[in-house]
Amino acid sequence: MSDGPFNQAVLIRGGTVVDATGKRVGDVLIRNGVVEAVGLDLDDAIAGAQVLDASGCIVGPGLVDLHSHLREPGREESETVETGARAAALGGYTAVVAMPNTDPPIDCAAVARQVFELGARATCEVAVAGAITVGRAGKLLAPLAEMADLGIRLFTDDGNGVQDARLMRRALEYASALGVTLAQHCEDSSLAAGGHMHEGEWSSRLGIPGQPGEAEELMVMRDLALSRLTRAPIHFLHLSTATSLQMVRVAKQGGARVTAEVAPHHFSLTDAAVASYDTVFKVNPPLRPPADVAAVKAALADGTADAIATDHAPHAQEDKEAPFDQAPPGMLGLETALALAVTELDLPIERLLALLSWQPAAIAGLAGRHGGPIVAGAAANLCVIDPEVTWVVDATRLASRSRNCPYAGRTLTGRVRHTVLRGEPVVIDGEAQR
Ligand code: DOR
Repeated sequence: MSDGPFNQAVLIRGGTVVDATGKRVGDVLIRNGVVEAVGLDLDDAIAGAQVLDASGCIVGPGLVDLHSHLREPGREESETVETGARAAALGGYTAVVAMPNTDPPIDCAAVARQVFELGARATCEVAVAGAITVGRAGKLLAPLAEMADLGIRLFTDDGNGVQDARLMRRALEYASALGVTLAQHCEDSSLAAGGHMHEGEWSSRLGIPGQPGEAEELMVMRDLALSRLTRAPIHFLHLSTATSLQMVRVAKQGGARVTAEVAPHHFSLTDAAVASYDTVFKVNPPLRPPADVAAVKAALADGTADAIATDHAPHAQEDKEAPFDQAPPGMLGLETALALAVTELDLPIERLLALLSWQPAAIAGLAGRHGGPIVAGAAANLCVIDPEVTWVVDATRLASRSRNCPYAGRTLTGRVRHTVLRGEPVVIDGEAQR
């Protein structure tokens, strides 16, 4: 591991470069953490460069995850910043936003600083989301300004929605004055209470208490109104129902300041998976019926959803080995998101990269370093994707410290071959370098 900037020259050779400006064939020369040149005749420049083969591959900006639970501080048995960042790098991510539902929660500058320090030597940039309320308890506003002073741009009580409309209004007003964005976990807790899966045909058959899609939709509706009232932007986390997405679609048409993410499991799995009673399929918001899955795909296709975000939620085996109603919700996501998008979505690679890289980078306030056009002078945060290769998910070989991957044994298309962070190849040929 190097402490200073990685200064060996690297040449990514033989790929097709894809970024927000379009697609072109070309090699990418990197030196001192930045892109030095992109073109076809870089041979003169490469003496001594480390060569990464990209033939048949897409060379894109590194992926950016708006929604990673890295569990540190407090739940290091499930994940650490180091292991989560390694999983991220293997998944093609050069930046992730660490969620604040740690123990203690990231609800003040001191804890945020600790996570930034842990992230400083990780294999991807670790941005931090701060909590909206003290202890994520939904009662008192957290000190948003002192966290914003550290560069934090997203705030959320994720895991909980902010239930109190008046408090949410005040939080939106403060956030907008600070130039930061609130990200809501949309769930009316009174309506969702006691539900462990989607309420519908499968919950009735299985005898597992459900939570209706309306628990999510009520808060989407309320927060669209509060965003209108305060003129503050709002970001919706992991939307999962057709009606939620339709509300966002209509609000956007009316000029609302709203962005939305969806999670890979909500376009690749349905609530029928719960029939196994396997707690690996327990997640919040829950897996939904096929009509909602189709609506999530449609929202990704028509621009209603701005980003694919993993909601990577590691849980230790002994926690997941519990009866369905007692197990914690959440599933791993960082190492499979790109492949699920390639496999499940009928979208061209430039649209997939918009959803996985530059659009989330903009929402997270990371666009200066991540997701930008691959041109001379740009930060060398890149990933190289083989869009054709097929592979079988082996949950025992994931870099995450946890094993709660719902795709074990599934054959996926598309895999990350190399990931370059600040000019350093942190993943080469699918292997983490540190
Ligand atoms: O399934 C989930 N797991 N949903 C959340 O909102 C929280 C997350 C976690 O932290 O495990």
